[in-house]
Amino acid sequence: MQASERTAGVGIVLDQIHHRYAGSTAVESVSLDIPAGELVALLGPSGCGKTTLLRIVAGLLRQSGGHVRIGGEVVDALPTNERGAGIVFQNYALFPHMTVADNVAYGLRARGVAAQQARATAAQMLAMVRMADYGKRYPRELSGGQQQRVALARTLAVRPRVLLLDEPFAALDKNLRLDMQIEIRRIQRELGITTILVTHDQDEAMSMADRIAVMHAGVVEQFDTPEAIYDRPATLFVATFIGTANLLPGQLRSAEGGYAVDCAAGGAIALERAAPCSRVGSVVVAARPENLVLAASSVGALPARVEMVLPLGPSLVYELALATGGTIKVTQPRSAGQLRYEAGEQVGVRLRPGAPAGVFAG
Ligand SMILES: Nc1ncnc2c1ncn2[C@@H]1O[C@H](COP(=O)(O)OP(=O)(O)O)[C@@H](O)[C@H]1O
Ligand SMILES: [Mg+2]
Repeated sequence: MQASERTAGVGIVLDQIHHRYAGSTAVESVSLDIPAGELVALLGPSGCGKTTLLRIVAGLLRQSGGHVRIGGEVVDALPTNERGAGIVFQNYALFPHMTVADNVAYGLRARGVAAQQARATAAQMLAMVRMADYGKRYPRELSGGQQQRVALARTLAVRPRVLLLDEPFAALDKNLRLDMQIEIRRIQRELGITTILVTHDQDEAMSMADRIAVMHAGVVEQFDTPEAIYDRPATLFVATFIGTANLLPGQLRSAEGGYAVDCAAGGAIALERAAPCSRVGSVVVAARPENLVLAASSVGALPARVEMVLPLGPSLVYELALATGGTIKVTQPRSAGQLRYEAGEQVGVRLRPGAPAGVFAG
C-alpha cells in the first residue's frame, strides 16, 4: 500500500448527544472523544442505544441534542456522504445483479469517477480484502464471509474519513467471524482509519478495540482501554457485563493493610484498595474468578464449600457454595504441586494479594 492511500486519520468527538424517539429516550448525554486512527467499540446489551448512536454519527439520524464533530468540524447539518462516513451493516446488501467488481466500483461511478479509474480502484480494494480473484463473480456465488469482505471493499473504495461498523460479523459463523475480525483490524491499522464498531459481543470488543465505550440504557458507563475496563470497572454493570464477576455483598470497614469487607455470607475479605467506592458501609465486591485463591483454613477469609471441580485445560474451575445459598467461581492454574480441593471440602476464599477487585456502593 502506498503512503498516499492512507486516510489521514481524523478524530470523532461526540458532545452531549441525546436522542429521543417518540416518547422514549434512547441515548442520554453521551460525550466521547475518539482519537484519530483508533478503533473504538460501542459495547452493550441489545436495546442500549448503540445503533442509534452510530446512525447519529453516520448522519442517518438527526440527534435531538448535542453535537457531532468529525476532524474538528461540526457535521450536524451534513448528510452521510459529506461527512465522509463509510458504513457496513450486518446485512451487507450487495446488489445481486451486479458482479463483485461492479459492486465495489458502484460508489465511485455514482460520484462521477471514470469507468477505467473506478475499475482500477475496485481491483485494488478487492486485493486489500483478499478477494482479488472474485471480481467477475456474483454475490450469490460467495459465502457470507466473502460477501462481507466485498461490502467492506465497497465501503472503503470511496475513501471514507471514518469507518462505522454495526454488528458486521453477527451473521457469520464463529470461525469466519474470527477471520473477519482479524482482517478488519489489519485493514483498519493499515489505513489508519478512525473506526467505530458496534457490538454486543464482549470478546469481540475486547480483542479488537483500542478503547471500549460500555453502554447501558442509553448511557456510556465507562470509556477506557480493554484492560482498564476488565481490571478496574467503573460501575457494577460494567463489572458484570464484561467477563465473569463474583458478587459479594457486605460491609466495608478500614482494616490493617487497607480495608476489609465483612461478608453477608460470613467471614471477611481483605482488600488493599477500595475503589471506586471507599465509603464505609454497605458495598458489593466484584471479584474475578482468577483473582480469588483458596486455602484449607477459613480464618480471616470467606468460608465456602466446594461443590464442583472442573478441569478446564490449564485451569481448575471451582464452583463453591456460600452460607447465604449463592455460588461463586474460583479459577486456579492446574500446575504440578498445586493443592487440589475436592467436592464437599470446606475452604476459605481470599483475594489474591495485589489483585484488583471492584468495590461498589451496595
Ligand atoms: N426507529 C425507532 N423508533 C422508536 N424507538 C426506537 C427506534 N429505533 C430504536 N428504538 C429504541 O431505542 C432504543 C435503542 O435502540 P438501538 O439503538 O437500536 O439499540 P442497540 O443497537 O443497542 O440494540 C431501544 O429501546 C429501541 O427499542
Ligand atoms: Mg443495534
